[in-house]
Amino acid sequence: MSIRTRRAKGNAEVIIDHELCNLCGLCVNVCKGKPLYIENDRLHVDQSILFGCIGCGQCAAVCPQKCIVIEGREISAKDIIDLPPREQRADYEQLQALLLGRRSIRDFKNQEVEAEVIQKILDAVSTAPMGLPPSEVQVLILQGFDRVREFARDMVEVFKRKKWWFSPVALGIMRPFIGKEAYDLMKTFVAPLPDFFIKTMAKGEDWLLYNAPLAMYFHASPTSDPLDCTIAGTYAMLAAESLGLGTCMIGSIAPFLKSKNPVSTKYGIPTENNQGIMIIFGYPKYKYTRSIKRSLGGVTYYR
Ligand SMILES: Cc1cc2nc3c(=O)[nH]c(=O)nc-3n(C[C@H](O)[C@H](O)[C@H](O)COP(=O)(O)O)c2cc1C
Repeated sequence: MSIRTRRAKGNAEVIIDHELCNLCGLCVNVCKGKPLYIENDRLHVDQSILFGCIGCGQCAAVCPQKCIVIEGREISAKDIIDLPPREQRADYEQLQALLLGRRSIRDFKNQEVEAEVIQKILDAVSTAPMGLPPSEVQVLILQGFDRVREFARDMVEVFKRKKWWFSPVALGIMRPFIGKEAYDLMKTFVAPLPDFFIKTMAKGEDWLLYNAPLAMYFHASPTSDPLDCTIAGTYAMLAAESLGLGTCMIGSIAPFLKSKNPVSTKYGIPTENNQGIMIIFGYPKYKYTRSIKRSLGGVTYYR
């Protein structure tokens, strides 16, 4: 049975050049939708097995003979591209250096982010994995200091309307449903924030999006995996880092875009979409001289 998502219905077609195919079987091994099999010295496709072709492109990407293309479910022959040479790919040391160099940046130079740089970030984001292809992730780009500031101001208006969500009475009602730990976090961290954003914005200070010159909101349809936006956003942060930008994830916006309000309407964010993630970008004002060695909440081996 073919999988139905917002962007894709039906199966993709697997087109095989049987003249070139040498029956090595790699495509059959990597295909987990399961429509491929070899019988009587020929590669076959049976779309009725499990999900049929979901358009993941694994068979085309692994084929040493370059004899498979996929058409449908938002993928086509032009999307199967050559790999960069091995020596051009980052090794662990290079990747780790990039990761250690990243900090959450909340102070920016008075410099806009160029359109080509934004495009490079989007090109990197489009390589991110997703629960099911094709990606359902949508990106709202707030381009330029003025637009980011406008969004922050609009968001603060939403906070004014919704701040009762975090009143002692509302939190008290929620407490039995969310548990003590979540209640404590809401009370000590989340609840004071809307008032803080409202008061500082009234003084002309933007503590929500930190006067960034660029922000992107990653959100995705209800048929996406809830993690897809966060993975795409993380790719955007790392791509931006490699381009000399600083970034910071902003978690305080997305929960408010799950219900219809002037911001979701004005910026075209469907409220049925999965909760997304906002990220700000810009050229860092300050140079950091050291990194921070962090620890995880826990590591458990079971061997
Ligand atoms: C999901 C998520 C949400 C975040 N939300 C905010 C936010 O709303 N405002 C903010 O200033 N920083 C936010 N941050 C940044 C964290 O505070 C920051 O990552 C953390 O303090 C560690 O610092 P580092 O990124 O420099 O290592 C967020 C980070 C993540 C991963």
